Formats: sequence, C-alpha cells, structure tokens
Amino acid sequence: MSDFADTPQPRPVHQAVLVREVLDGLALEPGLFVVDGTVGAGGHSRKILERIGEQGFLLGVDRDPMMLGHASQALQGPNHRLVLDTYAHLDSILTRETLPQADRILLDLGLSSDQLADRARGFSFHSDGPLDLRFNPTEGQSAAEWLAEVDEPTLIQVLTEYAEEPRAAALARSLIKARRDAPIDTASRLAEVVSDSGQARLAKDSPKHPATRVFQALRIVVNAELTQVETFVRDVVHRALKPGGRLAIITFHSLEDRIVKQAFRENELWQQLTPKPVVASTAEQRLNPRARTALLRVAIRKSAT
Ligand SMILES: C[S@@+](CC[C@H](N)C(=O)[O-])C[C@H]1O[C@@H](n2cnc3c(N)ncnc32)[C@H](O)[C@@H]1O
Repeated sequence: MSDFADTPQPRPVHQAVLVREVLDGLALEPGLFVVDGTVGAGGHSRKILERIGEQGFLLGVDRDPMMLGHASQALQGPNHRLVLDTYAHLDSILTRETLPQADRILLDLGLSSDQLADRARGFSFHSDGPLDLRFNPTEGQSAAEWLAEVDEPTLIQVLTEYAEEPRAAALARSLIKARRDAPIDTASRLAEVVSDSGQARLAKDSPKHPATRVFQALRIVVNAELTQVETFVRDVVHRALKPGGRLAIITFHSLEDRIVKQAFRENELWQQLTPKPVVASTAEQRLNPRARTALLRVAIRKSAT
C-alpha cells in the first residue's frame, strides 16, 4: 500500500487508451518487473498487474499527487509501489528505491481526463479555475505567473513552436495588451482573450475551441514537457531498462511523437517494433475521443548495447 491511499479523491473519469495494443506490445509475462512512468489513474497498471501476476512487480510513477491518490485506490495487492516524481528521473528513482533495471517501461504522456475535470487546475478552458496547468502544483511557476512575466519574443516563440499558430505575433500582442488591462489568471479568461483576438487558428470543420493549442503550449512550457521526454529517451532510459527489455510510449501530439520517433530511429540502442505508430481502432476512437490522437510506439532495447 502507499501513502497516497488516504487522500479523499473524486471518482476517476480517465479511460486508458490502446490498452490491448500496449499489453501486446510489452509482451507481458508472469514475474516481470514493469515501470509505469505515468501511472495516472492506474488504468494501464491494473491490466499490467493482472498479466505479471503475484510474482511480478509494478512501480508506478507520476508527477501529480492527485493522480497517485487515484492510482492507489485503483491498484490492489502488495506487489506494487507508487512514487511521486518525474519519469525523467527514473534511473535515480530505481537506485533510491533499491529496485533493479526494469523488464518493461510504459509512458502514456500528456494529460489525464481526471486532471482536465479538476476545475481547480485550469486545464479546461471552460472552468473559472486558476490558470495553473502544472502537473505538480507545488513545482515551478503556474501558467498565470508565467504569462504575467513573459516577454513578447518568448511568447511568440512558444506560440509558434508549441501551439503551431501561424499568427503567433498578432496573438502574442493581443495577450500582452489584455494582461495590461487585467491579469490573465483564470482558464476562462485566457480562453476568452484568445477567442476575442480572432488570431488563433481554427480549422473550419474542427469542433475545438480556438484556445485549445494555446493551452497546450502553456502546459508544455510550465511542465517542460518536451525536455522531460527528450531527457528520458536520450539520457535516462538506457540506465533504467534491461538489455532485451521493452519500452512503449503513447504520445498525443506531433511534437512529442517526433522526439520518440527520432530516438527509436537514430539511436542504435533500439530495435523498433512499430516503424509506423499504432493508432486506436475506429471502435475505440468512437467510444473514447482522447484515443483519436493517440500514437503508440514500441521498441526493444538491443541486448548488445
Ligand atoms: C494520460 S495520463 C496517464 C493515464 C494512465 N495511463 C491511466 O491509464 O490511467 C498522463 C499522466 O502522466 C502524468 N505525467 C505527466 N508528465 C509526467 C512526468 N514527467 N513524470 C511523471 N508523470 C507525468 C500526468 O500527471 C498524468 O497523470
């Protein structure tokens, strides 16, 4: 059991994506030691525990204390442990917890529906909640703080690179003008400013709010999301995964997928099992809209490296 079990939590709403594909890709068997580096509400981990049985062991890592509360309610039995940290520290986590290199590692990146549903975090632009957007609200700067201080060139760069906004300069100017009138410190105010500016890209047939990509960009910044993935695939995973072990990564946007794709292609550590990413079936996409953008890549760490 873990220390996170006592935290009272609202009911989890997250539905894990690509579950069968992940379980098959990881080739799970009884007795394996598996790390779920983004354990979330424990959807994948619960299924992993069933496959590895009582002889196996699962380490669940998450950066968000609330999500570890959900995971500890979802996961039964003595053969798992939950740790509050980032997967980008997995090598040092294993040392600290006196655990060996893993047989299998899963990362399911991005945001959980439970985080989106928590109005106090600002992940949903429909909420009046504070514009926080951090996975761990005790680490670093909130999105509201960042937005209050950022200079115009940096804001343009973030909107160009992480939101892929073609009118990033005009949008940045609108945000800077709006913050002079009143702080942009709630999710709904940011959504309104972006919408009123008329500068955000929105495909004609897209049901998404024009602020969707701006929220994504700010979330990437305050959580250093791309740096986390890059650090993990470049500097950490070879210390955390056994030779012959398998790594599965699910991404939800092209910026992250590009990092994983390049690492699997260019680094001689890997034998790719998915030259093209695995996507969810039409049936799953219909049942779970989050699955529509999910891309799964799986690779084996070569034995000789
Ligand atoms: C898509 S959810 C995972 C859902 C999980 N697979 C399930 O089935 O319930 C992503 C999770 O990753 C966590 N997360 C994001 N960045 C992280 C990081 N750098 N280290 C650890 N956890 C992270 C988030 O807090 C969130 O709980």
